[in-house]
Amino acid sequence: MIKRYTYGKVFKTDSVQSIPAAQIGEIPYVKADAEKLSFTYHMEPDDIVYGLGENVRGINKRGWIYESKCSDESKHLEDRRSLYAAHNFIVVDGRDRFGLFVDYPGILTFDVGYTDLSVLTITASDWNLDVYVIEGNSVIDIIRQFRGLIGRSYIAPRWAFGNGQSRWGYVTADDVREVVKKHRKAGVPLDMVYLDIDYMERFKDFTVNSERFPDFADFVKEMKDQHVRLIPIIDAAVKEEKGYSVYDEGITNGYFCTDKDGKPFVGAVWPGRSLFTDMLNKDARDWFGDQYKALLDQGIEGFWNDMNEPSIFYADDRLADVLEEIAKMREGDQNLDLDAFSHFENLVGSLSANPEDYKKFYHTVNGEKIRHDKVHNLYGYNMTRAAGEAFERLVPDKRVLLFSRASCIGMHRYGGIWQGDNKSYWAHLLMNLKMLPSLNMCGFLYTGADVGGFGSDTTEDLVMRWYALGIFTPLLRNHSEMGTRRQEFYQFNDREGFKAIIKLRYRLLPYLYSEYMKAALRGDMMFRPLAFDHPNDERCRTIEDQLYLGSELMIAPVYEQNAQGRMVYLPERMKMLRFTRNGDIEEKILEKGDHYIKVPLSDVVCFLREGHLLPLAKGGQCVDDVDFVNLSAISFGENAAYEYYHDDGVTKNYEEPEHWCLLQAK
Ligand code: GLC
Repeated sequence: MIKRYTYGKVFKTDSVQSIPAAQIGEIPYVKADAEKLSFTYHMEPDDIVYGLGENVRGINKRGWIYESKCSDESKHLEDRRSLYAAHNFIVVDGRDRFGLFVDYPGILTFDVGYTDLSVLTITASDWNLDVYVIEGNSVIDIIRQFRGLIGRSYIAPRWAFGNGQSRWGYVTADDVREVVKKHRKAGVPLDMVYLDIDYMERFKDFTVNSERFPDFADFVKEMKDQHVRLIPIIDAAVKEEKGYSVYDEGITNGYFCTDKDGKPFVGAVWPGRSLFTDMLNKDARDWFGDQYKALLDQGIEGFWNDMNEPSIFYADDRLADVLEEIAKMREGDQNLDLDAFSHFENLVGSLSANPEDYKKFYHTVNGEKIRHDKVHNLYGYNMTRAAGEAFERLVPDKRVLLFSRASCIGMHRYGGIWQGDNKSYWAHLLMNLKMLPSLNMCGFLYTGADVGGFGSDTTEDLVMRWYALGIFTPLLRNHSEMGTRRQEFYQFNDREGFKAIIKLRYRLLPYLYSEYMKAALRGDMMFRPLAFDHPNDERCRTIEDQLYLGSELMIAPVYEQNAQGRMVYLPERMKMLRFTRNGDIEEKILEKGDHYIKVPLSDVVCFLREGHLLPLAKGGQCVDDVDFVNLSAISFGENAAYEYYHDDGVTKNYEEPEHWCLLQAK
């Protein structure tokens, strides 16, 4: 049962697909306070608050304050309040059980027991919002209803479930060739290499640097012939440069965001002075989407959209002020005491992502000017929507890979997300795991984190343990920052260990893809906290480092350095599956309860539920190689069966009944 309560004059976010009529009367469960712009709820000590999608901290969000404010946040630390997304959906499970979705484009806080341990307060920036309250007979039921409300999740092409290699630092075609060669030579499967900003002509979207990538279309084909797709990055900001067609057309047609006087707003990102397409304006959005054609025409089949919070390194006028102030300081004795030095630091620090700058530009929606900060969280969503809608027009019958850094609910229909600029920290491996169910709740299914960690120097054991989790996530991509230690598998000693783990991904593909499709088509979660399936098991309500994957598997990765294994709680009898480095699979039935499981670095361990069957392929060097029809299986229990979804992975005829079949234990 979904009820909508509406306050003030609501901006149409298009997060929800079919808007139910607004209720008259008071909202249940929470207390609305128009003066404080807030909703409050008193939590019992045992209540759990799930949700908030991409965020720091736990699966249970209690004990911190989160801000829905899409931010270019490269420090994913516990003290952060927001990352790149605004996912305003929670489920309270305890004395009461209800879901709450705040459909609101502006900045919002969720104080989940931060100010007062037992109080949940949601505070908006103004009083123009829709709140949906969802009741159901289980947490899963509430989430399924919510997913129905927001519409079907984006479905990626099947090849995008292959292994991807990326690094901000592959600058030329030869750099890419080398990556591919090293994978193929070692027999490590590979389906995608990502092109970071250096493939562009001076960071100009939709251009290709012809010195670094001569004959780009031929190169795309050369790679495709080796079953490798190139996935270029697209940034939100458009370089200010006369003669650059994207800039010229945008200016001529008035497609960029403007300042209060109606002049194009200028801020700087990678290319220096740049403009921001008015993604909320349909004409501008269509136009931006059409630009992807330049790359589609050269054979590109997938993209990652970046810096679309939008990230602003500095606004033009602020830089001028700061430089002027620094010039004044220069004239002094250049001897900075504490106060003067702090002033200097603050000046420079105030340039990037300054909240005041987000109040300086405007969108034009149906002829009406809207200040950016009031609709801030819709920007990345609408950039990805621009691309998604364009693909529908340009290549209607084909799936295109698309994922984004910034997002808000609604964007899940157009693309996936990656979890942003994490670091090579063990804590971020665990955070990767914890974010998965929260993201799935909000409709984001095609997701994964930068394996090995993006920022900071990584270590061989961290990369290997991270792969042991990453091979289960739909997006599997090793990505790292320029200047950090290189982290392709071939940089390390135990290449055979990496090979075994990545090869296992390709054996699991029929299962992973089928589970992804089920989750997308039925509005289910691919990854669930244990408590969703065992609501009455007290232990499960606090376990945050094990997850169900589909109905069959439980995963429990090792996320601590030097650990030889870990404790695992089995809420029921399960069969432990150990995939070893020589390709063997050891099976062992374990009783319900606590177990210490040894996990050598190159082993992958997971758990199969009773009555279920895990299909396995033979594997392959790329997804195209994998035989999705002739499968083997591991089963547990008599009459074990698996409902298998299998389609061509390319076209969009998802709903055909012949895609489904029942696999049974022999
Ligand atoms: C941003 C992205 C990162 C990318 C870098 C350079 O930090 O999040 O993935 O490598 O920009 O484009």
